Amino acid sequence: MSRAPFEHESPSGDLKSVLTLEQFIINQREHFPHATGAFSRLLRDVSVAAKIINHNIRRAGILDVLGETGEVNVQDERQKKLDEIADQELVRALRRGGECCLIGSEEQPETIPMSPDAQAQERYAVFFDPLDGSTNTDVNASVGTIFSVYTLPEGVRPDDALEVVLRPGAEQVAAGYVAYGSSTMFVFSTGNGVNGFTLDPGIGEFLLTHPDIQIPDQPARYSINEADIDDFSPELRDFLRWLKRKDPDTGRRIRSRYIGSFVSDFHRNLLTGGLYMYPATADHPEGKLRLMYEANPMAFLVEQAGGNATDGRRRILDINPEHLHQRTPLFIGSAALVEAADAFLQGRKTEVTGVQ
Ligand code: AHG
Ligand code: MN
Ligand code: MN
Repeated sequence: MSRAPFEHESPSGDLKSVLTLEQFIINQREHFPHATGAFSRLLRDVSVAAKIINHNIRRAGILDVLGETGEVNVQDERQKKLDEIADQELVRALRRGGECCLIGSEEQPETIPMSPDAQAQERYAVFFDPLDGSTNTDVNASVGTIFSVYTLPEGVRPDDALEVVLRPGAEQVAAGYVAYGSSTMFVFSTGNGVNGFTLDPGIGEFLLTHPDIQIPDQPARYSINEADIDDFSPELRDFLRWLKRKDPDTGRRIRSRYIGSFVSDFHRNLLTGGLYMYPATADHPEGKLRLMYEANPMAFLVEQAGGNATDGRRRILDINPEHLHQRTPLFIGSAALVEAADAFLQGRKTEVTGVQ
């Protein structure tokens, strides 16, 4: 006896879901006060830019897009051609869409006001890391795009001073990332759970494949660049020793994974459980990752998925930003592991279960 297909299931049976990202956003409007037509168009613009970036990345070895531009960006990092392409595509998509009044990008020295006289419909500020993990592009390892969305508070103009325009991460209205991995995924939240969409290259649409993502609490993986271990504080080294102990109940040890592409490391840990760390080091005394377009959006997502994100002391989302390119130490992932890291770093390790 044949049965009727479930809602969003493809009648042909070969697609897991036929709920597109665009349709999902329209359906979400009833749960999300900011989900006006303008907001839907904004997310569509980001997703279109993501498809174009994806197209470039997928053909990177064939097109002349690998290697460096010869330029150094505002963070003193050598810009890759793909960094520049990704930045231009995002700026172009957001400018064309017209919903956005302010942009802040890793690849641009200053914020870019789009329309200083923005009306109510155009009050979105978007911060992004156009291409994250870009040192991985030349060796065909996975990379990503990260974005963070705010609405400017009433009375604030996009060309106002930065300390007025830049808001703590807790005020984000949406955040997400695109992971260009073995498949391309668009993962985002509007503060109502986290949902993941996989690009079907055949039809050019992101389809819902990972509804309501929750980060597992079991410590499956930890991610840190241990080459810097001599620079870590004694407390952090102590925490790492604890983290690597055999679990007294299961006899199992946590595994280590570090791609060096924050989006990919974060994505894996979000799906399988784990902890990503980028502490302060001698080379990066304030941490390496940037608050506005790396730490904040991922902190928003991880909290929506039941996890935690801190700088070792404070909740990331409570930090008051001062600069567009401000850096922060970051401990992000499964709630219990972030809490244990904070306890060690703050000299409260005896509060962690099983620590003498
Ligand atoms: P970006 O490519 O946007 O500059 O970001 C690179 C970041 C992040 O993706 C990654 O986790 C980290 O740099 C890796 O740094 P290390 O090589 O110091 O581990
Ligand atoms: Mn990055
Ligand atoms: Mn980048």
